[in-house]
Amino acid sequence: MFKFKILTALLASAFIFACGNKQTSAPGTTENAPGTTTEASTSDYDPKRGEGKFNESNLTIDAALNVPMADAGEKAAGVKCTSCHKVTDERLVGPGWKGVTQRRAASWIMNFITNPEPMIDKDPELQAQLELCLVRMPNQSLNEEEARNILEYMRKNDGVK
Ligand code: HEC
Repeated sequence: MFKFKILTALLASAFIFACGNKQTSAPGTTENAPGTTTEASTSDYDPKRGEGKFNESNLTIDAALNVPMADAGEKAAGVKCTSCHKVTDERLVGPGWKGVTQRRAASWIMNFITNPEPMIDKDPELQAQLELCLVRMPNQSLNEEEARNILEYMRKNDGVK
């Protein structure tokens, strides 16, 4: 776990200036090591829902913000996410979070943040972001509750009250 955190920090600092500028991609620093893509299974991928256990029927999202959940999500994000993500529309290592709940379905966000690897290999938009960011978002080992709280925080950030 400790090792993993160091790696995360290293990745974050090493790529901080690379992200958002396609021109800077140095040879050998790209993410897509040969053999990591799984093209064979992309055909059954649903780009709206993503891939994973979450879908419209097992996610409950009220129109109104759940304030305690959003607050808990903000705390969790501060520990596990904001080293790479700003809450504005500005890119850091990964894309800024502003508007993400409008760009993506709730189930897509939940599936991606709990288990990013398989989706990075299959999602066309994630592939495009990967080209810009040069970093694969690491699995942050979120449990379901943390993920759902962070989603609520993202909704708050996008103006849900
Ligand atoms: C080491 C840096 C890093 C950390 C830490 C990180 N991310 Fe990411 N994130 C990325 C990158 C890079 C992308 C772009 C997709 C890719 O290349 O994997 C991304 C993409 C995303 C996206 C898709 C955004 C969009 O506009 O489509 C979401 C949502 C997201 N991350 C949420 C999270 C959450 C929640 C956490 C914390 C639990 C987190 N990230 C932690 C680097 C990171």
